[in-house]
Amino acid sequence: MQIDTDKFVLKALSSGAFVNDCNANRSAMLAAAINAAKNAYCPYSKFHVGAALLTVTGDIYAGCNVENAMYNGMSHAELTAISNAIVHEGNDMLIAEMVIWTPTPDPTPSCGGCRQLLREHIASRSESVIWSFCDDPTRPPLGMTVDELLPHSFGPENLA
Ligand code: THU
Ligand code: ZN
Repeated sequence: MQIDTDKFVLKALSSGAFVNDCNANRSAMLAAAINAAKNAYCPYSKFHVGAALLTVTGDIYAGCNVENAMYNGMSHAELTAISNAIVHEGNDMLIAEMVIWTPTPDPTPSCGGCRQLLREHIASRSESVIWSFCDDPTRPPLGMTVDELLPHSFGPENLA
């Protein structure tokens, strides 16, 4: 995929597209999500998705979508990033913030299944933000909390 990650991130930050303070974590997440999307294995959909999450301990883990000829066995970028973080930090890993990036004219919101996955590993359902970026660095990302993406959600508490 043809994209200069550094240039893109700089432009997104300087345009103010990544709202609030342009902190180092946010630019690193955006760069990691773009680089992950470049590596996506998506010969069937040709739809590259990159994700990068920041854990509450301050580390960043990335993921991309990984498709399969069996079609059902697709790993979404969000799942790959969460799995990557759990492998490194343990199964109590919590997501402070996340970035999704797609080379599309509009930001791509996470699918329903990924929203449910995020719900289980997010630090705060009302405060932690999931940002969706598209390939226009001047375009503000879509920033939503899990409560906004998945209102009245089902979770482990419901199993009690
Ligand atoms: N995809 C993701 O990685 N995340 C989403 O939530 C939306 C869909 C991937 C799965 C598949 O490889 C491609 O995008 C088309 O659906
Ligand atoms: Zn998904």
